[in-house]
Amino acid sequence: MNMPEVRLSKKKLDPNEVRNDFPICSRLVNGAPLVYFDNAATSQKPQSVIDSIKDFYEEHNANIHRAVHTLSYEATVMYEQAHKKVADFIGARNWREVVFTRNATESINLVAYAWAFHNLSAGDEILITIMEHHSDIVPWQMLRDEKGIVLKFLDVDDEGALRLDELPEMLTERTKLVGVVHASNVLGVVNPVGEIVKEAKKVGAKVLVDAAQSVPHFPVDVVELGCDFLVASGHKMLGPTGIGFLYAREELLREMRPFLYGGDMIETVTTEGATWNELPWKFEAGTPNVAGGIGLGAAIDYLSGLDMNQVAAHETELLDYALGRLSELPWVKLYGPGKGRRVGVISFNVEDVHPHDVAGYLDERGIAVRSGHHCTQPLMTRMGIENAVRASFYIYNTKEEVDKLIEGLRRVMELFSR
Ligand SMILES: Cc1ncc(COP(=O)(O)O)c(C=O)c1O
Repeated sequence: MNMPEVRLSKKKLDPNEVRNDFPICSRLVNGAPLVYFDNAATSQKPQSVIDSIKDFYEEHNANIHRAVHTLSYEATVMYEQAHKKVADFIGARNWREVVFTRNATESINLVAYAWAFHNLSAGDEILITIMEHHSDIVPWQMLRDEKGIVLKFLDVDDEGALRLDELPEMLTERTKLVGVVHASNVLGVVNPVGEIVKEAKKVGAKVLVDAAQSVPHFPVDVVELGCDFLVASGHKMLGPTGIGFLYAREELLREMRPFLYGGDMIETVTTEGATWNELPWKFEAGTPNVAGGIGLGAAIDYLSGLDMNQVAAHETELLDYALGRLSELPWVKLYGPGKGRRVGVISFNVEDVHPHDVAGYLDERGIAVRSGHHCTQPLMTRMGIENAVRASFYIYNTKEEVDKLIEGLRRVMELFSR
């Protein structure tokens, strides 16, 4: 297993110390201590994030951008500050390049409706990969059906690595957008986005990076990647649900039309028409999720305190340990390339046992894993399966918890092979 390139500057992450910051880590589930391995679906929240939301409602609650009173001023500053924290976290040049949305899905829809819908025409091509989450497939299918755009899929090899060798011939002068998942929510593979951007730029295509599974797990820098758009969800990176973001290069955001229309996204309105507010408010119509944005800011403070290089190193150590232990079980089929950079996501199946049965039995032992198609049905079809079990790790997971998973899987095999 290749280690991510990390610069270890701060103290090594101790998951047992981290656990003290997460109230839910002391929960019992079905009488057993919770082992939470469903982090790719959503992460747990540290006390500081929970407190930031409580503090907002107890001390500062008001609508933003609308009043001169003290509470409104405080709420406005806190919400804007949260944009700045996200911008710094992903290396954006300017905080106005960060638009808050509900989640990664809404961010992709924003690009589809506000940019692609007006800039692409019949015969233009969008290239995405077969390993995209449905949220980076279905909006483009909508556009294909509405506008006659050609939607192409870059394949993976039998192990699940992207067929980069096919990329040059898939890109044409009609390719206007390339959409790529940075880290797969099924295979855990980290795709070489920098290389893909380089190829895409040769034909003048824009690149959208789905960073829902990368930004929470290792340092991501939008300028280094050279992408045009990048999306992520707050709830997968210790933040609350209902808040996510779109990063887009400033000049693109300036050119783009708004996505939703109404209050707060305008500068002036007459009976004849309207002009648009400055960035990023042009894309944040109506009262936004102020508390959610502040909670996301607190999540970023927490992650930055740990150091994202340490977060990545911890996950790699856990991933290597788990892959080693799972390889002791010959009746477990693991998916994904055996080499290359990966985040802490492992998908597998247990011979002759349905993934839902595996997940149901593990839950009886307090172990939360995901089973199903993981919103990646085209990838599942390519891999010749319908469902898989997925264990996904984060900062509070330990090797002892991995041991519990292995023990649980041994029991599953005993029970179901009777
Ligand atoms: C890779 C990837 N992209 C996009 C999404 C969509 O995230 P959300 O449901 O928060 O919009 C997910 C969620 O699992 C994901 O794993």
